[in-house]
Amino acid sequence: MSRFRIGLGWDVHRTAAGRPLVLGGVRIEADFGLEGHSDADVLAHAVTDAILGAAALGDIGMHFPDTDPAWKDASSERFLVHAVELARRQGYRLTHVDATVVLERPKLAAYRQAIRENLARMLGIDVGNVSVKFKTAERMGPVGEGRTAEAQAVVTLEAD
Ligand code: C5P
Ligand code: MG
Repeated sequence: MSRFRIGLGWDVHRTAAGRPLVLGGVRIEADFGLEGHSDADVLAHAVTDAILGAAALGDIGMHFPDTDPAWKDASSERFLVHAVELARRQGYRLTHVDATVVLERPKLAAYRQAIRENLARMLGIDVGNVSVKFKTAERMGPVGEGRTAEAQAVVTLEAD
């Protein structure tokens, strides 16, 4: 068993009027939100997939199918917590997260600390081990035109 494992996650959601914008479990002030089940937390979903990927445990849809009543409309926090627990059962603990949210507007930098702290709390790691970055798409493509939001995440797991 490798001592260290790296996982990669990516997600995209459409923007929609009248929906909440939630990133890393933090409600962001905006005149639009993201479509999807429950909170459509694109950042939390990318981090969940990165954790599952590092542990070679498939992907978010495999573990949390929205056809299963147990997971339908479940909060993204439950996905994160469960992914950490699944990795732990494989003998790995989460040591570090680095993520990028790609969203044209609003500016998110003022939320960075709150998002880092909330992700750290949900994941059970120190805030110093959680990095969150923000990028626009320079007004190009679906993100740049404000039609979607994307998130990418990399995590490291270390064997116990
Ligand atoms: O995409 P761009 O390189 O122009 O982003 C410059 C900076 O603006 C980023 O490094 C980030 O600090 C900030 N930003 C932000 N919220 C966004 C996009 C970018 O705070 N939605
Ligand atoms: Mg998603």
